[in-house]
Amino acid sequence: MHTARERPRIADLFAAEPDRLQRLTLDAAGLHLDFSKQAWSRAGFEAVLSWARAAEVETKRAALFAGEAVNVTEGRAALHTALRARDGEPQRDEVLKSRAAMRAFSEGVRSGRIAAADGKPFSHILHIGIGGSDLGPRLIWEALKPLTPGIGLSFAANVDPAEIAAALAPLDASRTLVIVVSKTFTTAETMANARAARAWLEARLGEPDTKKHLAAVSTNLEATAAFGIPAERVFGFRDWVGGRFSVWSAVGLSVATALGWEAFEHFLAGAAAMDRHFATAPLECNAPVLLALSNIYNRNGLDRRARAVVPYAQRLRLLPAFLQQLEMESNGKPADRSTAGVVFGDAGTNGQHAFFQMLHQGTDIIPVEFIAVRHASEGPPEQQAMLLANCLAQAEALMVGAKAKKLHRRFDGNRPSSLILLDRLDPASLGALIALYEHKVFVEGAVWGINSFDQWGVELGKALAGKILGELGSGGAGRHDPSTAALIERVRSHD
Ligand code: F6P
Repeated sequence: MHTARERPRIADLFAAEPDRLQRLTLDAAGLHLDFSKQAWSRAGFEAVLSWARAAEVETKRAALFAGEAVNVTEGRAALHTALRARDGEPQRDEVLKSRAAMRAFSEGVRSGRIAAADGKPFSHILHIGIGGSDLGPRLIWEALKPLTPGIGLSFAANVDPAEIAAALAPLDASRTLVIVVSKTFTTAETMANARAARAWLEARLGEPDTKKHLAAVSTNLEATAAFGIPAERVFGFRDWVGGRFSVWSAVGLSVATALGWEAFEHFLAGAAAMDRHFATAPLECNAPVLLALSNIYNRNGLDRRARAVVPYAQRLRLLPAFLQQLEMESNGKPADRSTAGVVFGDAGTNGQHAFFQMLHQGTDIIPVEFIAVRHASEGPPEQQAMLLANCLAQAEALMVGAKAKKLHRRFDGNRPSSLILLDRLDPASLGALIALYEHKVFVEGAVWGINSFDQWGVELGKALAGKILGELGSGGAGRHDPSTAALIERVRSHD
């Protein structure tokens, strides 16, 4: 790899490498990807590709799809690909059974066959969950809800009482179905919000009718029964579905119901198309692999510590938040080299009026991933052209820059970016996009030598929160550092 001094400017690499555009752009599962504005020369690209080969990415990829125990610290498979495979392999019976149950429920609620306690159809679903049990469904709903008007869907995740209060305030209990989604059914935030929603239903409908307004999605069937959710309203899934990879499972029940089963099937099919591409394409022209390698090049080759993800699509504005969990919870782990960096972002063009100043002139170089959609599905068409023009202009400006005598007017340029282009934002392209990122995370984990499917780093904070909660209630004081002890005192003082 070149040193910073000898490294050619990105813009000059197009002349030096006549096949650059063709070599670094590709189409996969309906998405078009352009990695030619990354800082890698041919030699740099070959170097990170050789890291992938040395890390045996192809062997690890085969193990993932075959259902081997790739989640080594928890001794289990990570089979999100089976959930969207048409035939459900290699978990055929389980997947097809769960898909059929989801479909029957989704169609039953939409048709009114599965009705509220008063016999009338539900008009709204409240989805309660957090992390992987929230971010995926929320992203899909925000992205696709204009396509299929019908049942309303809203979410409550945070334990902050303000969120559940705001979620419940506009709802009519007699028309609302509450779906509690938690892989473990022990997550403190979700259980607190679920208890609040159950109490809200009971106060308005009475205890017996409340059961008809509750459903659950979980791997912990004992806990869902103990919570009082009738068995026929519980949708199970298995421990080989990782939380942040779970939107394809029954965790997607609320969106499958609100969007309609057909849309959800298209969503699964889009992801399955990306799976086929990832499983079969050679590494050097494999979309998730190139997305991963561009990040690895920036992270380990150039020591870039952050990356901006900017969807030029308002309906994808939650993508950065989704990716924060997918990438930082999966790959923010110790290894013998730098692993996941910070990922942040917001929808373009809004981000241009917030953090783009730093992207263009800041002292840290922050690679950018642009995501754009060619055709709008709503609104004035001339605004779509404005949106796309802005996206392309930003990527060009970052790379090319502009000369000026005065420092404040100078754009050094040579700032890397990639672009992912969707034809339309529809269920299939969204499925392909999410699967692209899931596999990108897997490839990074493979190269960095880490298990992308566990999250031990969240445990210490959870345990301490439980301890401090007890102390806030009891007035007792455990052992704490002086700062924390003083803050506990201040929080529980009555003045
Ligand atoms: O933040 C830790 C975590 O375990 C995530 O990995 C998971 O998505 C989230 O909590 C929610 O967990 P559950 O679905 O079990 O409620």
